[in-house]
Amino acid sequence: MIRQSLKFRKTVTIVCVLSLIIFIFLILRRDKLNNIDIEGHQRLDNTQNIGYRDFNKMPKKDDNRQEAAEMDINNDEAKQELQEAKARLAQLEKKIAILEGRIPQKYPDVKYLGYKERKRILVTGGAGFVGSHLVDVLMTQGHEVIVVDNFFTGRKRNVEHWFGHRNFEMIHHDIVNPLYVEADEIYHLASPASPPHYMQNPVKTIKTNTLGTINMLGLARRVGAKILIASTSEVYGDPMVHPQPESYWGHVNPIGPRACYDEGKRVAETLAYSYAKQEKVDVRVARIFNTYGPRMHVSDGRVVSNFIMQAIQNLTITVYGNGKQTRSFCYVSDLVDGLLALMASSYTLPVNIGNPVEHTIEEFAVIIKNLVPGCRS
Ligand SMILES: NC(=O)c1ccc[n+]([C@@H]2O[C@H](COP(=O)([O-])OP(=O)(O)OC[C@H]3O[C@@H](n4cnc5c(N)ncnc54)[C@H](O)[C@@H]3O)[C@@H](O)[C@H]2O)c1
Repeated sequence: MIRQSLKFRKTVTIVCVLSLIIFIFLILRRDKLNNIDIEGHQRLDNTQNIGYRDFNKMPKKDDNRQEAAEMDINNDEAKQELQEAKARLAQLEKKIAILEGRIPQKYPDVKYLGYKERKRILVTGGAGFVGSHLVDVLMTQGHEVIVVDNFFTGRKRNVEHWFGHRNFEMIHHDIVNPLYVEADEIYHLASPASPPHYMQNPVKTIKTNTLGTINMLGLARRVGAKILIASTSEVYGDPMVHPQPESYWGHVNPIGPRACYDEGKRVAETLAYSYAKQEKVDVRVARIFNTYGPRMHVSDGRVVSNFIMQAIQNLTITVYGNGKQTRSFCYVSDLVDGLLALMASSYTLPVNIGNPVEHTIEEFAVIIKNLVPGCRS
């Protein structure tokens, strides 16, 4: 009986333990399944969230087409811009080639001067007709040349064959304003010279010849330079004496149409001798008579350029009056020789520079007509 009871109790215990194990196993398994489910849901949620967020951003079919069309337009515009830029570039390259062609590959021959002989020479109005020829001679002699010009009547083209040369410098400057440079000699030529040019702005003409000359004389005093003033035969005005010696004081109308030039040059001479007397500036004064030659302005308005232009264009050569009035014309290289000789000399009083041989205007007209081939004027 006791043995049976023990056996029964043992069996019950084993069943209970087994049931407990199965129960625990079942609970554990359920938890695991739940976890897997939750993870799965979370993953699903995440993908859905991402999908939802990006959905707004995702291009729709119509948007895609519009964007493609816009891109096409942008591409066309860019292509057109590129073509335009290429065309502009080609134009600029052509321009550069033309400009480069004008820069001399080889400069005219220049003498070598040691630093003791080489002078630094300032030429005001150096891009003008006379100034540019003077610059050519000074450069070929081996000096350092500084050209100052405001290009009122002068042109860069007149001196462009020196651009880039180590002895050459060009300053775009109006001499009515002070200038600070170093120089051993100054050739002061800046001033319009022909009547249409100097009458175009009479106030400026007189300022250039007075204020401009004061500035150049002041510069000469500061740096101890010798200065040559380019004066004119017009300081004699409508002369009562023929030919005019330097001692003749002239016959000038101070309020006439040419006064801005005539009186401007007379004041320039007065200033030169005042600076010489008071400030001990070493001055030279050249009274230049009519000059002609290459690089003369075509619209110079004076008889030589007028006759040449009329002959070239087969127009009637206009002679005022009976043509028996006389003039003298000096070739520009002779004038330059005269200016250099005067600067080098110790002569300080005014000097007339021109051609002493006079011709009638009628003779000039015939000479020019015969020189221009095919002229039927
Ligand atoms: N050519 C002649 O027959 C003749 C006759 C008598 C006197 N001159 C004198 O000789 C000089 C040169 O005459 P040109 O025939 O060569 O004349 P131009 O007009 O050819 O040259 C004068 C130069 O001076 C420059 N200039 C004018 N005003 C200036 C200013 N305020 N600042 C800087 N530069 C200025 C011009 O741009 C030009 O390059 C002038 O002083 C002129 O009065 C010339």
